[in-house]
Amino acid sequence: MERILVLGAYSGIGQAVLNILAKRNSKLFLVGRDQEKLRIVEEHLRVVGNSELFYFAMDLNEIESHKELLEKAIKQMNGLDTVFVCYGILPNQRELEQNPDKSIENYYTNALSTIHFVSLAANYFEAMHKGTIAVVTSVAGDRGRKSNYFYGSAKGCVDIFLEGLRHRLFGKNVKVVTIKPGVVDTPMTKDLDKKVFVSQPEEVAKDIVRALESNKDVVYTPWFWKYIMKVIRLMPSKIFYRLDF
Ligand SMILES: NC(=O)c1ccc[n+]([C@@H]2O[C@H](COP(=O)([O-])OP(=O)(O)OC[C@H]3O[C@@H](n4cnc5c(N)ncnc54)[C@H](OP(=O)(O)O)[C@@H]3O)[C@@H](O)[C@H]2O)c1
Repeated sequence: MERILVLGAYSGIGQAVLNILAKRNSKLFLVGRDQEKLRIVEEHLRVVGNSELFYFAMDLNEIESHKELLEKAIKQMNGLDTVFVCYGILPNQRELEQNPDKSIENYYTNALSTIHFVSLAANYFEAMHKGTIAVVTSVAGDRGRKSNYFYGSAKGCVDIFLEGLRHRLFGKNVKVVTIKPGVVDTPMTKDLDKKVFVSQPEEVAKDIVRALESNKDVVYTPWFWKYIMKVIRLMPSKIFYRLDF
C-alpha cells in the first residue's frame, strides 16, 4: 500500500491527481491550510476511492512546523513512500513591479517553503534508501518573460534546486521528479486571459500520476509544452524581446 503525502491537496491540480490516487488502495495524507476545504476533499475521496485518508491543516509558509508535519505523516501512515508538492500562488506581476516588497510572499510560497520541506523529505528518504519526491513547478520557470517573471523566477529557482537534489541523490534509490504544467484551467488562472493551449486538470493529473511511476526526471504536461518551451528557450533574445507575452 503506497503512502503518499500531498501538499496542496485541494488545489485544482492536486484534487485531480487525488481523484486518481484515491482509487488505488493507497494511504493518502492531505495537507492544505483550510481545515474545512480539506474535510470536504477527504469526504469526496472517501466516496470515490478505496484509500485510507488522513488530513492536516497548516499554512505551509510556516516552515518551523515542517518537521512536525513530516513526522506526523510518517507516524500516521506508518512510513512514507512519496511526497507530492502541489501548492502555490500566482501573483499579479504588475503589482509586484510597482511594490517589490510584496514579492516576498511569492518567493516564500512558490520557492522557499517548498525547498525547505523537500529538503527535510529528501533527508528522510535518503536514510530510508528509497522514496519519491515530485514537485509541480511550471513552464514559466524555463525563461524569464515580462508578463510573469516574479512567478517564473520562483518556479525556476525550485527547478534548479530539484536538479541539484537529483544529482545528490543519484544512485540512492530516491527519485526526484520535476513536473512542469503549461496553462491549466484551475482557480489559479481564473482571471487570466486564457486563449490557446489551455488544459484541464484531469488531463494534467493523468500525466502526473504516470510521472510518479516513471523514471523521468522532468515531465512537461501536456507533452507538447516540452517542444514549445524548447523553442522559447532557444529563441535569440533579439527576437524574444519583440514578442508581447
Ligand atoms: N494552473 C496553472 O496554469 C498552473 C501552471 C503551472 C503550474 N501550476 C502550479 O500547480 C500548482 C497547483 O496550482 P493550481 O493551478 O491547482 O492552483 P490552485 O487551485 O489555485 O491551487 C493552489 C493551492 O495552493 C494553496 N496554497 C497557497 N499558499 C499556501 C500556503 N502558504 N500553505 C498551504 N497551501 C497554500 C492554495 O490554498 P488556499 O486555497 O487555502 O489559498 C491552493 O489550494 C501550483 O504550484 C501552481 O503554481 C499551475
